[in-house]
Amino acid sequence: MRVSMYRRMGCVGLFALLAVAPTAPARARDASQADLHLGQHAEPEIKPGQEIFPTCTRCHGSDGIGSPDGSVPAIAGQYARVIISELVDFRPRYANRNDPRMERIASLHLLSQPNDIAEIAYFVSTLPRRPVPATGRGDGLSQGKALYQARCAGCHGTSAQGSERRGIPWLNSQHYDYLRREMLYATEHRRPNMEKAHAALFQNLHQQDIDGLADYLSRLPPK
Ligand code: HEC
Ligand code: HEC
Repeated sequence: MRVSMYRRMGCVGLFALLAVAPTAPARARDASQADLHLGQHAEPEIKPGQEIFPTCTRCHGSDGIGSPDGSVPAIAGQYARVIISELVDFRPRYANRNDPRMERIASLHLLSQPNDIAEIAYFVSTLPRRPVPATGRGDGLSQGKALYQARCAGCHGTSAQGSERRGIPWLNSQHYDYLRREMLYATEHRRPNMEKAHAALFQNLHQQDIDGLADYLSRLPPK
């Protein structure tokens, strides 16, 4: 069943993902797309992701829900396609996404083979989701909802459920602090893999809009 799931991730879906891929120096982009392709076409049963997962729990928690303060994201139940592309993007040589902690993890020998990335992504994607404790103050929710439904739902879905087929992450029940930080990173050119889809969308947003968006999303039920 696991093998067939990855075989079903054919090239159509991959191209849909690459269509929103970030701008990066051409050679690095070619290489990162080759890794992405290998990761997505690997057969993830060869080395169970369960064996790799203890490497992740120190920061993401034993349930994969992230840190209680909301600074480390929930990854439990995220789409395997999304997890694979994030792990590739964190590789320092591609610099599509920057965070010293994850750059170190993505460079570990443990995750050097596409199969390893596929295994851990598959395992994490099967972990159950649950609401996160770290939400915002609750005073910008209606503004956040209006902005989200107008500008974001077309890609991330009306319930912020994302899309496995298109490699779009769910945002519902993700930690407030994490969402807020990623949106700021995208506006400050610190998260290259988000820029293409988001730069124009975030251009005229004020801090309180971003806070409202993050708060609204963190409170939506996981599904
Ligand atoms: C030392 C702490 C640490 C460890 C260990 C760690 N992570 Fe992370 N991880 C983070 C932080 C912090 C972020 C958020 C980085 C950012 O803000 O860009 C993150 C982000 C991620 C993301 C992106 C989530 C998203 O929604 O885009 C994925 C996927 C991920 N980690 C997977 C893993 C996996 C799989 C492992 C184990 C192999 C792991 N991490 C181990 C700290 C860690
Ligand atoms: C054109 C489609 C598209 C639109 C519109 C869009 N997004 Fe995204 N979003 C994506 C994709 C694709 C990613 C994954 C980027 C990556 O990491 O490579 C993403 C990632 C994100 C992330 C990071 C999630 C994580 O787990 O790290 C946040 C936060 C986010 N989007 C918020 C928003 C908000 C808020 C809006 C509306 C203002 C929005 N997006 C509109 C496609 C879109």
